[in-house]
Amino acid sequence: MFHNIPPGMARRMRDLEEIDARDRDDGTPRLERLRQVPPETGRFIALLAAAAPPGMVIEVWTSAGYSAMWLALACRETGRSLATFEVLPAKAAIARETFRLAGVDDIITLVEGDAREHLAALDGIGYCFLDAEKEVYAACYELVVPRLVPGGLLIADNAINHYETLKPMIDRALADERVDAMVVPIGKGELICRKH
Ligand SMILES: C[S@@+](CC[C@H](N)C(=O)[O-])C[C@H]1O[C@@H](n2cnc3c(N)ncnc32)[C@H](O)[C@@H]1O
Repeated sequence: MFHNIPPGMARRMRDLEEIDARDRDDGTPRLERLRQVPPETGRFIALLAAAAPPGMVIEVWTSAGYSAMWLALACRETGRSLATFEVLPAKAAIARETFRLAGVDDIITLVEGDAREHLAALDGIGYCFLDAEKEVYAACYELVVPRLVPGGLLIADNAINHYETLKPMIDRALADERVDAMVVPIGKGELICRKH
């Protein structure tokens, strides 16, 4: 996966990393910032996605498609496809360009709209990466967990840098007997839940 990242994808990853770093420094308004995961989180979520049981691979939410590229590496490796959700048309347009340049538009479906409306209609999720507005993590958790296959994984970002806001969902996951869960101190902190 990591030893043969296609040149077009590697270039797009570098470009988005530069834009994301600049956004964080230059006062770009929050809605316009890419707010993407750091590279080590990208590798981590890709490794877990490659190890997930059969089932849908989904990402809630897309932004410019940076984390989706890492997940696409795992999907390519395991013969699967990724569905990723984005509500802002401007971000969706950037993500489409990302997937074209990275050569993964054949294995990624970008769904435009509020992910929560689509999650309720899904079933048989093998893997979900949750990187959303912090206020909706809890609602997404409740929508995703019942739809995970046995052994299915839910990974939620920001479990450390937004711990106070996400604490109710994290506590819920740690006590939830449907899953085994823990927080891993990688990047901004990843909550990992594995369904029984
Ligand atoms: C933290 S960013 C995702 C970063 C991405 N996972 C990455 O690492 O490259 C969150 C994104 O969610 C989008 N978003 C906000 N509300 C949404 C909703 N209700 N449904 C789908 N996407 C939404 C925002 O426009 C933003 O682009």
